Amino acid sequence: MAERDQLVAAIENATYASSIHNAQPWRFEILGDSIAVHLAADETPRTVDPIGRWALASIGAVVANLELALEAATGQEIETEVRVGGVPPEGELAGGVAYAERPLAVVTVTDVAAETPHLTSAERLAEVIRERFTTREPLTGGAPSEVEWAEVEAAVPGSQGVVAGRRAPAELVSELLRLTAAAELKRQDDADYLEEVEAWVERTESTGIPAQAVGLPDAEGRIPTRDFNQTPMGSAATGEAAFFEHEPSLLLLASQSDSPLEQFLGGYGMQRAMLEATTLGLGIGVLGQALEESDSRAAVNAAASEALGGDVVVHQILRLGHPASPLTHPRTPRRPVAEVIL
Ligand SMILES: Cc1cc2nc3c(=O)[nH]c(=O)nc-3n(C[C@H](O)[C@H](O)[C@H](O)COP(=O)(O)O)c2cc1C
Repeated sequence: MAERDQLVAAIENATYASSIHNAQPWRFEILGDSIAVHLAADETPRTVDPIGRWALASIGAVVANLELALEAATGQEIETEVRVGGVPPEGELAGGVAYAERPLAVVTVTDVAAETPHLTSAERLAEVIRERFTTREPLTGGAPSEVEWAEVEAAVPGSQGVVAGRRAPAELVSELLRLTAAAELKRQDDADYLEEVEAWVERTESTGIPAQAVGLPDAEGRIPTRDFNQTPMGSAATGEAAFFEHEPSLLLLASQSDSPLEQFLGGYGMQRAMLEATTLGLGIGVLGQALEESDSRAAVNAAASEALGGDVVVHQILRLGHPASPLTHPRTPRRPVAEVIL
């Protein structure tokens, strides 16, 4: 039987997961040795997430962290029952509202001791849970090495789930950057989107993206990071910019179709890839804009399918690279753990 204190400590660690606009749309219910993970859709961003994919991905990310934190804390095997299905539920999908009816995953500490290689690997990733962060800074210290690529790809459990980590070849990188830039440009004319983004910068003491984490645009316009600088004094107004890497390296979280389960696993795989990248000293950016609107998403999938072969559905695009000098960790806040336990 796991101690409640251990479970609460693991939940607290898990909340350092990535989430859309740092909404942290998760709640946890402790049921003996199990933890049910719920989506709290009352506050999720809607415009950026018309079909709930980012809400599901955020829950996938926190479940990945929770498994690692529990295994490292207890030394026991962890079993997860994912309760996200193959088809979306009836009802409002924006912000994942219709997914909030019941738990999306139940994570259980079993009474079987974890085997050493698995436990060691979980401990290694769990150790960097609080060190991982999303960067919107230049990564000009070099691309990941072949060995680093292999390690990051291997951290995404493509064999258990269906979502794998795939490195984008150079011609696909150019096409993905072009599509992302087009999506970002379109957003700049979307008043609802701009209002929503502005509302998530410095949102509250414990949610949203703090001003020091929003980064600056690429002076040469190659890398279309999401523009969070929508305030009157934002970078568009001040003209501030930074010089980004010329040949960005992109990792795709990809599968063969676009079911809610795969959207969840996209976030799960993304979190694990980010943790592995953190152990390797890589900076990690997220370029999700082209996946939010259906035409642009279809264009991304067509380009990825042609470049990688077969039917490829992209669930997330990560930018990986070494920073020229150590990045300062722009701490994004988290809700106190008591607020997220039901
Ligand atoms: C599903 C999902 C989509 C995201 N999309 C973007 C994005 O398009 N651009 C970006 O800069 N960050 C993106 N992020 C990163 C979040 O903004 C970030 O995880 C959150 O602010 C918490 O900060 P941290 O990752 O540094 O802990 C995304 C995260 C998730 C889980």
